[in-house]
Amino acid sequence: MTGERDEHGLQDGRVAVVTGAASGIGLAAARSLAEAGAMVVAADRDAEGAARVAADLTGQGLRAAPAAFDVAEPEAVAAAMAAIARDHGLVRVLVNSAGIGVDVPFLDTDPALLDRIIGINLRGTMMLGQIVARGLIAAGRPGSIVNIGSVSGLRGNRGRAAYGASKGAVHLLTQVMALELGPHGIRVNCVAPGPIDTPLTRAVHRPEVRASWEERVALGRYGTPEEMASVIRFLAGDAAGYVTGQIIAADGGFQAVGIRD
Ligand SMILES: NC(=O)c1ccc[n+]([C@@H]2O[C@H](COP(=O)([O-])OP(=O)(O)OC[C@H]3O[C@@H](n4cnc5c(N)ncnc54)[C@H](O)[C@@H]3O)[C@@H](O)[C@H]2O)c1
Repeated sequence: MTGERDEHGLQDGRVAVVTGAASGIGLAAARSLAEAGAMVVAADRDAEGAARVAADLTGQGLRAAPAAFDVAEPEAVAAAMAAIARDHGLVRVLVNSAGIGVDVPFLDTDPALLDRIIGINLRGTMMLGQIVARGLIAAGRPGSIVNIGSVSGLRGNRGRAAYGASKGAVHLLTQVMALELGPHGIRVNCVAPGPIDTPLTRAVHRPEVRASWEERVALGRYGTPEEMASVIRFLAGDAAGYVTGQIIAADGGFQAVGIRD
């Protein structure tokens, strides 16, 4: 066991469910938590992707298993989480990275699109958090939940009416969860990424959008999924034992920047 594994307090093989684990930030988080010693359940609606990630991790001697479900389907979520608890034991860590992003102007946002985004980004995050928290409280064990918000939930970014509203709600949800679950020893935090180079942004960010982000962030570049994973791993583990209710902007300085010239 390496010193690095010790330092995060995840080396005891505790069960960590990571949603959205087949791609991008969730994939990097799943790998990072497994490398820190957790038993990672790589969950995604992309069943093949989840299986691939779990096989990849176990092939490297790490602890992992796949789970396939859609976070927007309450019955599927409940059934899958019950199966995970039965097969692997109490879920001590949850990372809610499953999410979709769209770039649609406010006036063009129809009810179906709004419902879809809220159903995945907000309701999915909330449902999974409820299930994991109920399990921890019943077992009388501490745990850690890491939600994924966005700088688009902290500032008004063009085209992010539905997406930004869903992420702003995740930030507030994080604070209420931290307050209500704190007495049970359950910490709840949120990482609010800036622009991160993942399949999502490669699909959604047009070249001019990409140029605008690069110009806007202090570091002048997109972040990497691994740079998000290291923040998630810190919040997930015992190293962050007195950190809860925080919205941590891992945003390359996006929020700090004012006029440049
Ligand atoms: N990439 C960025 O710049 C950025 C910035 C801020 C916030 N975020 C947030 O980070 C999270 C991860 O984004 P990413 O860039 O890694 O995206 P991504 O598209 O690379 O990965 C998202 C994963 O979530 C899965 N997923 C989507 N909907 C699902 C559902 N309903 N049920 C189960 N799985 C589902 C997808 O199959 C995919 O594997 C999202 O919540 C996103 O909003 C990303």
